Amino acid sequence: MASNVHPQNVLDYHGTNTIFSVWNFKQLPAQQLKDAFEKVCALVINLNHSAAIRFPDNGASCVMGIGPMAWQIVGLPHPAPRELNDFKEIAGAKYTAVATRGDLHFHLRALNSSICYDMALEISKILSAVADPVEEVHGFRYWDGRSILGFVDGTENPQGDQRAYFGLIGDQEPAYKGGSYLFVQKYIHDLQAFKALPLEEQEKVFGRYRDSDVEMSDELKPSNSHSALANVGDDLKIIRDNMPFGNMSTNEMGTYFIAYASTFDTVNKMLINMFVGDPPGNYDRLLDFSTAKTGSLFYVPTLEMLDSMSSGDFTLSGAAPLGDTNVDASEVLNNKKTELVVELQSLGIGSLKS
Ligand code: HEM
Repeated sequence: MASNVHPQNVLDYHGTNTIFSVWNFKQLPAQQLKDAFEKVCALVINLNHSAAIRFPDNGASCVMGIGPMAWQIVGLPHPAPRELNDFKEIAGAKYTAVATRGDLHFHLRALNSSICYDMALEISKILSAVADPVEEVHGFRYWDGRSILGFVDGTENPQGDQRAYFGLIGDQEPAYKGGSYLFVQKYIHDLQAFKALPLEEQEKVFGRYRDSDVEMSDELKPSNSHSALANVGDDLKIIRDNMPFGNMSTNEMGTYFIAYASTFDTVNKMLINMFVGDPPGNYDRLLDFSTAKTGSLFYVPTLEMLDSMSSGDFTLSGAAPLGDTNVDASEVLNNKKTELVVELQSLGIGSLKS
């Protein structure tokens, strides 16, 4: 990668404490949204610099991703990153990977949760007037990196140099090189049902032994286990930074699935294998205990792009100029609604009433 391109902190490991948050822009004049967007781009750079100076050993960082609708609303240039489209839900015979809107995504990490809290607070000071916080999950490292279901999560992630290869966009998209595609899903687990399974059955769900974290042999691993279906080949990997979360009062125990990838296509292949199954019908047994409540795709710009976005002069060589900043955000939202109606009608599903 060229030395003048620096990714946000997408290649790091899971961390200890995290806050994941998603914000959706309100229907306000585009210029107002664009102003706030520029401020938040500058803030993200500031927060990372500040954390590095003040808490150098804390693994603190803030990574911001931009959703497809936000890309249009704040008038970023066309063509947008090639795969930055609304995530289309994947419906299997039994379970569905739902699609939900996400305009801006923040992934805050630190050893000390006070730092995550402070970063989240600064972000909300800028965004709360112009956007709605639609999701906030506080994730924590559970024992030795286990999901709340009790199995270590992340072992087969790419390591070392492989992380940049699989986690960052390369020469296939020169204008967006060094950035990443980011895909997130909030899963809620039926912990009671999972824990009621004998240990050997739990291990068959993942295709791994729980205590040793060792993978089952191919002869023993069930074809509907998570590791059999999520593994789509040694050349197709992603960086997973999942974190567990748990709330006793609402009985919401879950996993925040978060992946950075050089191409979204790899994530999509994994999702199809899990939800539709391979062969179709042989879906991921993990889904019998896990329900996807959200699903959104983002593009994570490099630090250099963030910097130029913060001053409103992010352009692409050979690309169309910045979008019309006088476009009202409601126009973008209404256009989306029209697109959806056309799509549904073409599928014979009827129409949406506005
Ligand atoms: C319910 C949420 C999920 C949980 C609790 C979970 C947990 C796990 C665990 C415990 C492993 C085995 C250890 C390892 O990390 O290598 C694993 C592997 C893996 N997961 Fe997930 N996962 C979830 C969702 C997903 C999703 C949505 C994807 C992809 C879209 C995915 C992709 C993978 C991949 C690629 C592997 C490595 C497979 C291999 O090469 O053996 N996971 N996951």
